[in-house]
Amino acid sequence: MNRTRRILITEPIVPAVMEKLSARYDVTIGQRGYYNIKENLLNDLPEYDAVLCMLSNPLDGDVIKSAKRLQIIANNAVGYNNIDVDTAREAGILVANTPDVLTDATADGTFALLLAVARRIPEAERALRRGEFDGWNPTGFLGMELRGKTLGIIGMGRIGTGVARRARAFGMKIAYHNRSRADHATETELEAEYVDTVPALCRQSDIISLHCPLTAETKHLMNGKMLTNMKKTAILINAARGPVVDEAALAAALKSGIIAGAGLDVYEHEPEVHPDLPALENCVLLPHITSATDETREAMGHLAADAIIGVLEGKAAESIANLL
Ligand code: GLV
Ligand code: GLV
Repeated sequence: MNRTRRILITEPIVPAVMEKLSARYDVTIGQRGYYNIKENLLNDLPEYDAVLCMLSNPLDGDVIKSAKRLQIIANNAVGYNNIDVDTAREAGILVANTPDVLTDATADGTFALLLAVARRIPEAERALRRGEFDGWNPTGFLGMELRGKTLGIIGMGRIGTGVARRARAFGMKIAYHNRSRADHATETELEAEYVDTVPALCRQSDIISLHCPLTAETKHLMNGKMLTNMKKTAILINAARGPVVDEAALAAALKSGIIAGAGLDVYEHEPEVHPDLPALENCVLLPHITSATDETREAMGHLAADAIIGVLEGKAAESIANLL
């Protein structure tokens, strides 16, 4: 096979995908976390023809410009805010991500997080493990019933739509905000109401769930001021990207009762978590796992690897569906 082609997989991923690429190319597997450091990418990436990278790897303009051999960047994630796509385009480097294959797992994971907050599952379980279960309690751990409540979705893409579908099965009403309106069929299916501003969506929703990409426009979209638009009884769910929420402002809002609860799968400065959050019982904190199923992580790896193989074997870009 074409062993002169050098591929960097920035950290160990599912074995079947590492084997698939190793069977064809000269593959290097980075140590977990090593390429979260820009310096290491600057030093090493110029040696490679392709990189299969993680969302924690900062492929900024400097890194991309330095990687003179690179033909393709395949991100092992659907979100690609870690990659300077414009600079890659200018340098003639293709960029791929992993849409679609993670939609159901991520929507399931988001809904698990939403239910965990609404029904106070981790808090109740922690109490039991401390030996505090003293029998059925008519007033113990009362949470939010979902039926009849409004779920406000910010970012009605594939994942947002998947979360809305699940919420409908729980009897929730759907309202949403998106840069552009969803198509008529989706609005009809979900009986979803389009709300043209984020503050208005916050005011009318019992739960807000974020599914927008991280961009200059969405950074700190949920800041201290925006949080005051939410109901005092409301819950905020973030399984998108950490910086969409001002984490310090959220911690303050959870402490002072500006909102009732939060479920976070992502953080502003991963893997750091704002120091006030772990002490608060009214938030559920997950370690960025909403797409983490066996099936989905394998499918994501194959999708990223197949884009690399397609590009290096000279396939037409139009025939590789997950190129940006
Ligand atoms: C995970 O956060 C992803 O973007 O795939
Ligand atoms: C994002 O790409 C989504 O699928 O919602």
